[in-house]
Amino acid sequence: MRKIKKVLAIVLSLSLVLGLFTGCQSKKQSDLKLTIYAGLMEDHMIKAVQEFEKETGIKVEAVRMSSGEILGRVKAEKENPKASVWFGGPADGFIAAKEEGLLEKYVSPNAKDIPDKFKDKDGYWTGIYIGYLGFSSNEKLLKEKGIEAPKSWEDLLKPELKGQVSMANPGSSGTAYTVLATIVQLMGEEKGLEYMKKLHGQIKTYQKSGTAPARMAGQGEAIVGITFMHDAIKYREEGMKDLVITAPSEGTGYEIGAVGIIKGGPDQEAAKKFVDWCLTKKAQELGQTVGSYQFLTNPNAQPPKQAESIKDTKLIDYNLEWAGKNRSTLVEKWNNAIK
Ligand code: F6P
Repeated sequence: MRKIKKVLAIVLSLSLVLGLFTGCQSKKQSDLKLTIYAGLMEDHMIKAVQEFEKETGIKVEAVRMSSGEILGRVKAEKENPKASVWFGGPADGFIAAKEEGLLEKYVSPNAKDIPDKFKDKDGYWTGIYIGYLGFSSNEKLLKEKGIEAPKSWEDLLKPELKGQVSMANPGSSGTAYTVLATIVQLMGEEKGLEYMKKLHGQIKTYQKSGTAPARMAGQGEAIVGITFMHDAIKYREEGMKDLVITAPSEGTGYEIGAVGIIKGGPDQEAAKKFVDWCLTKKAQELGQTVGSYQFLTNPNAQPPKQAESIKDTKLIDYNLEWAGKNRSTLVEKWNNAIK
């Protein structure tokens, strides 16, 4: 009997200590807060923030911007960073930021689950998703012009598409910068910039955000939008039934969407927790619940079945490191070429 009482007392005091400890932990965690610059779709950002807050108790403020805008903001705030996490958007922006000393190195324990080809070898960013570039066209408008959906980069230069192609501005948008870097890698710098100049003659408007051209094609405001194909799948699912999705036969470029920590930003502890969370199977599978259909970098995560139709797209051997390191010079050259 005495022995039982003793064991009970030990168990009781252990659970008291454990309770106090976990109580302190969660209280401490709920005192943490986090500011995020997000480069992915707004509804995806909102869903991720809600789930992360629910799971950790950390309060999050997040704002959606295009990739070039985030890079510009982080650069401008270098001396006094306002945010701690850059969440989403093509990794070339992260590479440019790393080159300028704007990112904090952080190798999450969960990064061991992410294949090397999807993360920075020095630990400044980690990939969370993958997206392929392609064309989003309006079938009804194509029929009216009597042409087929473009199947090559050259097809975009057809006279019937003059003033009817939409893309974003490579300076502001990660999608459009991926287009520019893809073309230069496919054709070489001189020919690539010549091509971009010809394409300029076909462009209706340059949008700020890379997802807008798919929406414009879906709404019949342009015949073709150059975008990541998962964005067109989302808009088609949301009711833009005239959208047809094609990919260039010469091969296309792709993004590795990344997450990283902003150097010197507040809330570094919470920022690390967010990066850890982003790499989990559960967090990666959240996007598809709100129509974000990128492929995923965690091999244990289930890729969206909606992206099945584009999984065999012919890709170029996209040199991401080169794209990131040459970002500002290439955008400047493009600006000069289209002047
Ligand atoms: O969230 C949709 C998406 O296409 C992402 O896959 C991509 O990283 C991001 O948008 C690019 O946005 P932007 O071109 O506006 O920088």
